[in-house]
Amino acid sequence: MGSERRKLKTVTGVSGSRDVYAAALDPTRSTLEEGIRIARIAQENKIGAIFAADLLSFGAQGAIGAQEPLIQLAALGAVTTDVGLIATVSTTFHHPYNLARLFGTLDHISNGRAAWNAVTSSLGEENYGDGDLPSPEQRYARATESIEVVNALFDSWRPGALRPDGAGGVTLDDSLVRPVDYAGQHFSVRGPLNIPPLPQGRPVQFQAGQSAGGVELGARFAEVVFTSLATLEDAITYTKKIRARAAEWGRPNGLPLIFSSFHATYGATEQEARRLVREAAEATDFDAGRRQLADMLGGGIDLSELPLDKPIPETLLPQLDSVHRRRGRVEIFGKLAASGATLRELVIAAKDTGHWAAAGTPEQLADAIEERYRADVLDVISLGGFTDGRTHDFVVNGLLPELRRRKLLDTDYLGGTYRENLELPAPTRT
Ligand SMILES: Cc1cc2nc3c(=O)[nH]c(=O)nc-3n(C[C@H](O)[C@H](O)[C@H](O)COP(=O)(O)O)c2cc1C
Repeated sequence: MGSERRKLKTVTGVSGSRDVYAAALDPTRSTLEEGIRIARIAQENKIGAIFAADLLSFGAQGAIGAQEPLIQLAALGAVTTDVGLIATVSTTFHHPYNLARLFGTLDHISNGRAAWNAVTSSLGEENYGDGDLPSPEQRYARATESIEVVNALFDSWRPGALRPDGAGGVTLDDSLVRPVDYAGQHFSVRGPLNIPPLPQGRPVQFQAGQSAGGVELGARFAEVVFTSLATLEDAITYTKKIRARAAEWGRPNGLPLIFSSFHATYGATEQEARRLVREAAEATDFDAGRRQLADMLGGGIDLSELPLDKPIPETLLPQLDSVHRRRGRVEIFGKLAASGATLRELVIAAKDTGHWAAAGTPEQLADAIEERYRADVLDVISLGGFTDGRTHDFVVNGLLPELRRRKLLDTDYLGGTYRENLELPAPTRT
């Protein structure tokens, strides 16, 4: 990578749409259909990657989890040639030997476009035995070992293990395929991996989870961290914290890359965008909103009787270390609640689940994006709305050309692998 800073990279989501239910009901349709449409539009518009979030429990957040990400992205990888394939998969409810085989295969069949968004899950324990969800500390300790095992397995074939035999075939020198002999608290894995060296060496390592445990995991292993940073200040504080910790782990400067979702409301004029935001706020279902906010605040709080136009009494707000599920979200909404926001304002903010939301014309939205990019707190951005008629036009004919006019985005794919398109260095072998 030259001295010039890498351009902003783009992603779009292929999970969570309720269209999967409609397709499931219609024997003439495949539940993959909308994913294929998004993946093809993404590639036509040189979007860097497609992303699948995941939840391991019914009804948690709409249709997220209605398709298993690795299978969905393997199929979408077969109908695309350039877009990266980012699958969210839990370290709490998967074994690392299987994870190495699954992502290793995805990287091979996509010729080097696999990426793993490692999460520790904050729900779904009822589907994996009758025990409670392990504590955040236990989940992140297991996640640390899981990533160590997976990386050791990807590195278990030494260079030269596979060589052309000069007669059009290959020679496998299995003396260069070594056991990993990993013995940890959570895992004991002999190895080696039974999948040959990956096109990318290792899939690109993403991570999501921004509590203290999440920051530590991301600083140590992630090449890209998926974040919920509603304000520029939040982005600056978080980026400083995780980059400083990463440097202490001896990570290269500028890593991990900061990846944010961008919940945009587009208008042909600023007034139109503001009107749409106002109308969306007025249309808020506050009963459902109180439940969603309670979930953002850790789930142990009842907001059903509180007055809407008053702040939440501080005595009701949870202590962070007492939160068992998502401390990252509680940090975001606890701070907002403590700042004096009314219940109404908090419920409306919770609709974006802590993500960065902005409204305006494509030029104004490009300004907001450029501000974070120039502040070095944004390297990868997720843009949505490619299959929504109105938004599609604003993104494809408004925002993307404007970002390219400002030379903030690549005009084409830079290489064959996702790692090359992110301009990431080769992974350092263990
Ligand atoms: C931006 C962002 C996206 C996330 N996406 C997922 C997801 O798709 N699936 C999931 O199980 N957890 C997801 N998480 C949550 C966490 O990784 C994780 O599950 C954990 O329990 C809570 O993380 P935290 O308290 O460290 O923030 C996400 C977290 C963040 C910050």
